[in-house]
Amino acid sequence: MAGKTVISVENVSMTFNMNKEKIDSLKEYFIKLAKRQLRFKQFTALKDINFTISKGEIVGLMGLNGSGKSTLLKIIAGVMKPTTGRVAVKGSIAPLIEVGAGFNADLSGRENIFLNSYLLGFNKKYINDHLDEIIEFAELGEFIDVPLKNYSSGMKSRLGFAIATAVDPDVLIVDEVLAVGDFKFQQKCHKKIKELMDGDTTVLIVSHNINQIKELCTRCIWLEKGKMIADGPSEEVCAKYANQ
Ligand SMILES: Nc1ncnc2c1ncn2[C@@H]1O[C@H](COP(=O)(O)OP(=O)(O)OP(=O)(O)O)[C@@H](O)[C@H]1O
Ligand SMILES: [Mg+2]
Repeated sequence: MAGKTVISVENVSMTFNMNKEKIDSLKEYFIKLAKRQLRFKQFTALKDINFTISKGEIVGLMGLNGSGKSTLLKIIAGVMKPTTGRVAVKGSIAPLIEVGAGFNADLSGRENIFLNSYLLGFNKKYINDHLDEIIEFAELGEFIDVPLKNYSSGMKSRLGFAIATAVDPDVLIVDEVLAVGDFKFQQKCHKKIKELMDGDTTVLIVSHNINQIKELCTRCIWLEKGKMIADGPSEEVCAKYANQ
């Protein structure tokens, strides 16, 4: 059903405490704490963000380094709680947030498929049924039985993408992982995202590649210094972003 809200972000702000001082020991920390000499600077990474995303929408999130994109994705994925405001997500969510998050470097690719799928909430039968498909998609050949510490970053991201998309999630969140794959794998990921799109999966993608955003997304949200400065059709927002 088109038009149904799947992700809603309401008045979300995120403030981090940043310790500006260099403290060399725990003792020094407590002395400063007792003397009330500890100074914390508050840093606002997100300021009053509001938007909703409907079922099946493919939305690009763009902005310069440090603008708050990953923080926002982590809040939507439930990895972090916002300082104020609320987020609601309907359905299952597959967050591809950092390359290698949820992976164990000492385990093989095959073992990590099980580990990561459990973390995403899937049972052994489901994983066994999808194992061949995941291995085939990742195209790691015999490296599938080699410990992950011997993988390149592109290889890890292939595996992560293969696992996250095999589960046919209601919501797929992709934070820049596409950037590490080579162009052939990126094309394959685009194709897969389009397939999921046809199957009604809602997708939220962060990318620094404007062409990638234009190709995949119909709508785009632009963050700058934690504030949302545009939300509209990709062509329009990308043109403004490129000409800033
Ligand atoms: N745990 C934290 N503690 C303190 N500051 C943080 C924390 N996490 C993020 N920040 C700060 O919040 C700001 C936004 O970070 P975020 O990772 O969301 O940016 P981004 O838009 O994803 O950037 P990039 O394009 O480089 O990935 C940055 O200034 C960062 O230093
Ligand atoms: Mg980021």
